[in-house]
Amino acid sequence: PKRIPHAFTDVLIIGGGISGMRAALATDSSLHSIILTKGKVELSNSWKAQGGIAGVLDPEDHVSNHARDTIAAGKGMCDEKTVEEITSAAPEIIRDLISYGANFDQFEGHLALTQEGGHSHRRIIHALGDATGREIMRAMIHRVKAVTDSQIWEQTFTIDLLTYNGTCVGALVWNPYHGKTFIWAKQTILATGGAGRLYRETTNPEIATGDGHAIAFRAGAKLRDMEMMQFHPTVLYIAGGSRHLISEAVRGEGAHLVDVNGYRFMPDYDAAAELAPRDIVSRAITAQMNKTRQSSVYLDLRHLDRKLVEERFPNIAEVCSQFGLDLAVDLIPVRPGAHYMIGGVVIDHEGRTTIPGLFAAGEVTSSGLHGANRLASNSLLEGLYHGKAAGLAASREAAKISDHFCAMPIQGDEPRQAMDQTDLDLTDIRNSLLSLMWRQAGIWRDAQGLNDALKQVEFWDRYVSRQQFVNVDGWSLQNMLLVARLLLVSALERTESRGVHYRSDFPETPDEPGKHINVSANFPISK
Ligand code: SIN
Repeated sequence: PKRIPHAFTDVLIIGGGISGMRAALATDSSLHSIILTKGKVELSNSWKAQGGIAGVLDPEDHVSNHARDTIAAGKGMCDEKTVEEITSAAPEIIRDLISYGANFDQFEGHLALTQEGGHSHRRIIHALGDATGREIMRAMIHRVKAVTDSQIWEQTFTIDLLTYNGTCVGALVWNPYHGKTFIWAKQTILATGGAGRLYRETTNPEIATGDGHAIAFRAGAKLRDMEMMQFHPTVLYIAGGSRHLISEAVRGEGAHLVDVNGYRFMPDYDAAAELAPRDIVSRAITAQMNKTRQSSVYLDLRHLDRKLVEERFPNIAEVCSQFGLDLAVDLIPVRPGAHYMIGGVVIDHEGRTTIPGLFAAGEVTSSGLHGANRLASNSLLEGLYHGKAAGLAASREAAKISDHFCAMPIQGDEPRQAMDQTDLDLTDIRNSLLSLMWRQAGIWRDAQGLNDALKQVEFWDRYVSRQQFVNVDGWSLQNMLLVARLLLVSALERTESRGVHYRSDFPETPDEPGKHINVSANFPISK
């Protein structure tokens, strides 16, 4: 078999979204670092973020309000210390971004602040109207290239983490330029993002297939609350069109949700109407779709000022116009879609996972900030907070280890000669999985649907995971099946409704705090 080359680094950062780039900026400049991205850097979820970043900047507001709103949305599952630390750090985190050259939208000489669901004050800063992620990532990537020596390896897929005596020592990766490479790292930071692509309806880009969750699980890390997939209420729903997110800020600026009869239904479901937390709005939309036997509801902006709409939401307006829809005149068809994976790799306040040598930050983690329901615009904030913390802590650890440029013995069997081809139709299995997850592990769940889905996924997994793939499609599918399985077993285990996890057979949310559902390759599922 072809020899697999070796590369050596001090800090390996897996993922080039907001958490990975922040980790790179925090990594000590005397250390060597490599950033891996599965696709091009522009393809991350962070790059696509619309709404913005939450942080208290208005003197009328207070950090304790931000913390209280975050905890209220989290439905008894937030770690209050983590919430306090991150909401208190938010203003400084935003100032750091400005110092990197990110230009946020202004109003009358101050940063413009918008409103989103579940926030008691206007505290969301944004950029380019509705393309906040693009502006932040532009500034951060520019900064990484200008002030660090980090190498960015694009289109590089991480097949698995490498562990030696229980410690993470790097990763086995693949890219189309070099094939497979062993990257031996003194410290590794996982910043791979989410798993929205497990669902047919999603706001996430193609890369979001839960690879980081899967490789961390296989390496023995502890993960928790994998049933907690957040659905965004308003995804543009046009047959044949890509499922484009319509930012919550559109409702924040006053848009209404109406059904096919033009009826504004949200006040029937919650006193906060369109600005209720996302789980409530998503369930209300699906209930109203069922009542009216329609495949969507509509966003109505017709009562808003055309100039405000066009200035505030230029990208959304542009996407709608491609389908002949004018935001100021037409009703915009929307329905919910999978948006944000709340569950993930357990980390402490410095981003340490349960595996020595492995840190993690951002959507791949469960830090305790989001609890059972993430508040809008808290995720970029979390990625920046733990990206920085992980970069600093990983640097300290890496500096303690001397260079040896020595590959570890690989444990396990000699890899068999991989098959170049398999007869499996991977696209067919993937599409079937996405539909199954949407139907049976989506916004409404029950034991029968979850059990049936689990049996089906286990069946597919039995023959898919026996294959030795040689391409990203195959490895990603194996990861998706694993993460789907973790999500389904956790959803079955949580016999209550809490935040984003709604069980129609257990509709009540108990008053007492929610328990975490832990999964790890080394232990059975536990509460
Ligand atoms: C949005 O713009 O609605 C997304 C914001 C978020 O998910 O935090």
